[in-house]
Amino acid sequence: MAEVRSLAVDHEQRGKGIGSQLVRWCIDDARRLGIRKLMSLTYEERFFSKFGFVVVNKDTLPLKVWSDCVRCPKNLACDEIAMVLELTDVPIIQAPQAIPTPRGVSIPVLPEDDD
Ligand SMILES: CC(C)(COP(=O)(O)OP(=O)(O)OC[C@H]1O[C@@H](n2cnc3c(N)ncnc32)[C@H](O)[C@@H]1OP(=O)(O)O)[C@@H](O)C(=O)NCCC(=O)NCCS
Repeated sequence: MAEVRSLAVDHEQRGKGIGSQLVRWCIDDARRLGIRKLMSLTYEERFFSKFGFVVVNKDTLPLKVWSDCVRCPKNLACDEIAMVLELTDVPIIQAPQAIPTPRGVSIPVLPEDDD
């Protein structure tokens, strides 16, 4: 999952399609990198829903997201809306599995130096 964050268009330039271009660029880049989910914490629900983002419960977001919130004055009263876009055309990558250790294998321990 990757986050679309710090998205802002100058007041004078809003409504000209710049915000949309930036979000579409992020979506294209996510596809290029094989990232299947994009999230945003925002007040602009209608804007993000145009791209297919849907509102989700904040508790469903990875804990790492909240590391940014520690210093935020709104930390305990966050009123941002959590939204997620799932790119269903991006393949799901299985995390590599460690090869299981065979039973009865002893782990060599180096002898301590006498010095
Ligand atoms: C949200 C923001 C980035 C949109 O940028 P923008 O360049 O004005 O957006 P666009 O011109 O690409 O607008 C795209 C569409 O969204 C709509 N839209 C834009 N801002 C909107 C808003 N605040 N609420 C609802 N719809 C909005 C536009 O009407 C347009 O609709 P259309 O495609 O049907 O014509 C800009 O308003 C902004 O900087 N807001 C303050 C910062 C912010 O809240 N960022 C999001 C935090 S993650």
